[in-house]
Amino acid sequence: VKAAAGWHATALPDGFFARLGRRFLRAYWDSYRRSPHALALVALAGDGSVVGVLAGTTDSAAHYRWVVRHRGARLAAVALAALVTRPALAVRFWRTRGRLYARGLLRFLLPRRRRPGGGPAPGTPGATLAHVVVDDPARRSGVGTALVREFEAKARASGVRRLRLLAHDGDTALSAFYRGLGWRQGPIRIDVDGVAWREYTG
Ligand SMILES: CC(C)(COP(=O)(O)OP(=O)(O)OC[C@H]1O[C@@H](n2cnc3c(N)ncnc32)[C@H](O)[C@@H]1OP(=O)(O)O)[C@@H](O)C(=O)NCCC(=O)NCCS
Repeated sequence: VKAAAGWHATALPDGFFARLGRRFLRAYWDSYRRSPHALALVALAGDGSVVGVLAGTTDSAAHYRWVVRHRGARLAAVALAALVTRPALAVRFWRTRGRLYARGLLRFLLPRRRRPGGGPAPGTPGATLAHVVVDDPARRSGVGTALVREFEAKARASGVRRLRLLAHDGDTALSAFYRGLGWRQGPIRIDVDGVAWREYTG
């Protein structure tokens, strides 16, 4: 978790979660490690040192529900502590995510409407590859490929048929990496910060 948070902070510094600091990132990666609906994979070198990490869900909707229920308070407390010391980030959070998170909290707090006939929502669970990061000196030696392949195998073994991920649009290295792995390029999605992401399905 410590290595993952450190690499996440340096390799993917522009994301909102990275801006909340390493303490938040450690709590965030720990949620993937603990959730029964997610996977946190590590790649080890011959000497046992960690050279790569991957986080993903095997059932995204169930994972996010689990996180809100079991890690929501901790994540919110760490995020709040970071936002209190960074007013500009707090304003950005309120503008871009305030309504979204408030709606999510309300959905969680209010009693759920029962589905007619009961039972779970229809459809097969979808898996999301959230992050994969390889230590800089270990790149281009197959570590990223091994991590993604293991994620695909574990997700499929748990019954998943739809795999997806979002990568920065226009990043030719990432495009080469995922396309080389056989993932198909999908549409562009614009997030709440106005950043363009390319969807890939596997
Ligand atoms: C993307 C990343 C995980 C790839 O890990 P890796 O261990 O270097 O990948 P691999 O060695 O398995 O590469 C497999 C193939 O992908 C392609 N590829 C990987 N990195 C590439 C790059 N920088 N430029 C062009 N092609 C690349 C190549 O075809 C490569 O095969 P080759 O080395 O035989 O030419 C790694 O570069 C990384 O950690 N980047 C920073 C974090 C990041 O952006 N993560 C993804 C978004 S969450």
